[in-house]
Amino acid sequence: MIDLNGKVAIITGGAMGMGAATAELFASAKAEVVIADFNDELGRKTTQRICDQGGKAAFVYADVSKSRDVEKMVNFAVDTYGRLDAAVNNAARTPDDKPIADLDENEFDALIAVDLKGVALCMKYELQQMMQQGKGGSIINISSVSGIRPQPRTPIYIAAKFGVIGLTKSGAIDYSPHGIRVNAIAPGAIDTPMLRGALKQFGFDPNTYAKQLCMMGRFAQPSEVGQASLWLASDLSSYVTGAVITVDGGYTAM
Ligand SMILES: NC(=O)c1ccc[n+]([C@@H]2O[C@H](COP(=O)([O-])OP(=O)(O)OC[C@H]3O[C@@H](n4cnc5c(N)ncnc54)[C@H](O)[C@@H]3O)[C@@H](O)[C@H]2O)c1
Repeated sequence: MIDLNGKVAIITGGAMGMGAATAELFASAKAEVVIADFNDELGRKTTQRICDQGGKAAFVYADVSKSRDVEKMVNFAVDTYGRLDAAVNNAARTPDDKPIADLDENEFDALIAVDLKGVALCMKYELQQMMQQGKGGSIINISSVSGIRPQPRTPIYIAAKFGVIGLTKSGAIDYSPHGIRVNAIAPGAIDTPMLRGALKQFGFDPNTYAKQLCMMGRFAQPSEVGQASLWLASDLSSYVTGAVITVDGGYTAM
């Protein structure tokens, strides 16, 4: 079992799906966890569940597309637990579903604001805090296999998730000298509300889709991605930075 005792971690989009599963794993590894989400009600429920199970967790409302909220989120972590050691920048919107000739400019702005700018803003304030502490840190950005081997008809999400990998590599290069590691995870098909919503939107049958697109013939559980974040947040991954780790049941190998 990985031990995060003494580490403080922020998880954005932690109210549900992969973020919630990651927050639960971090808390069971003894981290002090800040769940940040714009879904206030669900965020508080998830936080309460973790506390009821004996974990240490606190909730902060944050829309990651808004600079002021993100700055407040980092300040909240420091005010509540004293510092910041790790962050999982996970919050994102459901993918778009039209090819680029049908691009909707408002949809482009809205999705990029959360899935790409949101990650950049989180990195900005997390890095500032980690630099100020002077003891390194670990930032984990959640990209997607769409940022490596894209599917049709989802150009905005693909652009955002490629961009997240770019931000990750840029951060790794600039902040390695300060002992801050920045890595990305590229999940495949993970059984969360986002995946179920996207399947419905595209009209895909879940069973057929799982068999066609995952070498393992099944969707992953959200905690299977959370385990990769857990390792990246821990000192066990001390020489890993600028990496993109696929957790995709072999999808990108096909
Ligand atoms: N589910 C998959 O199959 C899959 C595959 C590849 C990548 N991903 C990525 O994994 C991450 C988590 O996905 P998920 O499936 O758990 O999604 P989800 O929709 O189940 O959960 C997303 C969470 O982010 C929050 N959120 C959305 N916009 C926000 C904002 N502006 N500010 C703060 N919080 C916001 C939501 O309230 C929710 O709690 C995302 O980055 C997603 O793109 C998911």
